[in-house]
Amino acid sequence: MLGKLIWFQLLFAITLASASHYQCLPYPIDSVCILEHISYHSGDLVTFPTGYKQYHIRHPRSRKEYYSNVTIFDETLYESMHRPLRIEMERVFLTELTLPAELMMGNFAANQVRSVNVSRKMNYQITYLDLAQNSLTNIDFVSSLVNLEILHLEYNRIGIIPGSTLSPLTKLKYLYLIRNSFAVISWNSLPASLIHLDYSFCIAETIEFTNVSLPSLEYLNIQFNSFSTINVTALLRAAPSLKLVYLYNSNINQSRMHEIKAELAANNVTFVENYEREYCYYQEDYKYEDGKCIQVYNVPISIRKAVLLTSVVIVVAVLLMYLTWLVFRHMNR
Ligand SMILES: *[C@@H]1O[C@H](CO)[C@@H](O)[C@H](O)[C@H]1NC(C)=O
Ligand SMILES: *[C@@H]1O[C@H](CO)[C@@H](O)[C@H](O)[C@H]1NC(C)=O
Ligand SMILES: *[C@@H]1O[C@H](CO)[C@@H](O)[C@H](O)[C@H]1NC(C)=O
Ligand SMILES: *[C@@H]1O[C@H](CO)[C@@H](O)[C@H](O)[C@H]1NC(C)=O
Ligand SMILES: *[C@@H]1O[C@H](CO)[C@@H](O)[C@H](O)[C@H]1NC(C)=O
Ligand SMILES: *[C@@H]1O[C@H](CO)[C@@H](O)[C@H](O)[C@H]1NC(C)=O
Repeated sequence: MLGKLIWFQLLFAITLASASHYQCLPYPIDSVCILEHISYHSGDLVTFPTGYKQYHIRHPRSRKEYYSNVTIFDETLYESMHRPLRIEMERVFLTELTLPAELMMGNFAANQVRSVNVSRKMNYQITYLDLAQNSLTNIDFVSSLVNLEILHLEYNRIGIIPGSTLSPLTKLKYLYLIRNSFAVISWNSLPASLIHLDYSFCIAETIEFTNVSLPSLEYLNIQFNSFSTINVTALLRAAPSLKLVYLYNSNINQSRMHEIKAELAANNVTFVENYEREYCYYQEDYKYEDGKCIQVYNVPISIRKAVLLTSVVIVVAVLLMYLTWLVFRHMNR
């Protein structure tokens, strides 16, 4: 009996010794806890102060600790933080994430997240999720997050986006998929609530607008994909509120791009023209501004050279006169 008790005490002592208690940095907003360093792995015992609704684990600014290491975000860690509503933890080497149902905002960008664990039975509250710059290949978990309004998935390894993944997100307004590698995204299953859609720098090959209705879409960026054609008439029918589009695709030739631009301009949609940007770089009298290539000097080069030469002559003459005056004054003393 005594032996057992000693063992128990010993175990308790070891556990206590390995527990880390974290303190928040001074911050003028009472509900926000800012921490520069935490370390957490599955099974670790960590404790946090109570009374905070938001945790922000930021990259260390001092030399005391170089980086945080939180390999897993699980139920135990969330419970030790006293279930905050908002969590930001970038660059902490996170690989596995279990999303708590009551979390409202989650920023887990710049990590190594490969999988996100969600349960189909739960009612997820999250409206803002940032998982940019991670290692996601599969995004099936997204279909459970039906309250999402902003979703960042850029710079991952997403190779396929099944139609059923995005269609349940009926409140989604901003979707960022830049630099992934899917060949198709079904416009039919994009939520009608979308305002902002960006999947530039993916490898998408086809784009189909039949039966598509995105009445709120204002911003579209699909440049640097592999489209060989884009039907602008169909695009404008599908997305009648469009205001700004980026469509540059190297497989669409310049003359076709000019037609596209004319059609968009006739419909008051601003188009950012990359061919012009290239042209602008090689013309010294032009500069690129607000998506347009504009001429900055009208003066021919010969006249500019003459003006420059005249200025030099005048400056030299003035200097000479000043020197003569100095010498003259010196001699008169
Ligand atoms: C973070 O911790 C895990 C587990 O201890 C370890 O394998 C990994 O190398 C650590 N990462 C860094 C960048 O130190
Ligand atoms: C996945 O999430 C559920 C519900 O939050 C949890 O019960 C389960 O333990 C998690 N699984 C893993 C592997 O973390
Ligand atoms: C478009 O909708 C119509 C009517 O609902 C349907 O018959 C047709 O098959 C749909 N076309 C495509 C390409 O989904
Ligand atoms: C473009 O789309 C419009 C409207 O859907 C259609 O009438 C037209 O035939 C299409 N043009 C081409 C070249 O496919
Ligand atoms: C440009 O592309 C269009 C449509 O793809 C094609 O009809 C046209 O012949 C091409 N023009 C040139 C100059 O290659
Ligand atoms: C474009 O804007 C002009 C000026 O605001 C307006 O007169 C015209 O009707 C608009 N055209 C379209 C197609 O919306």
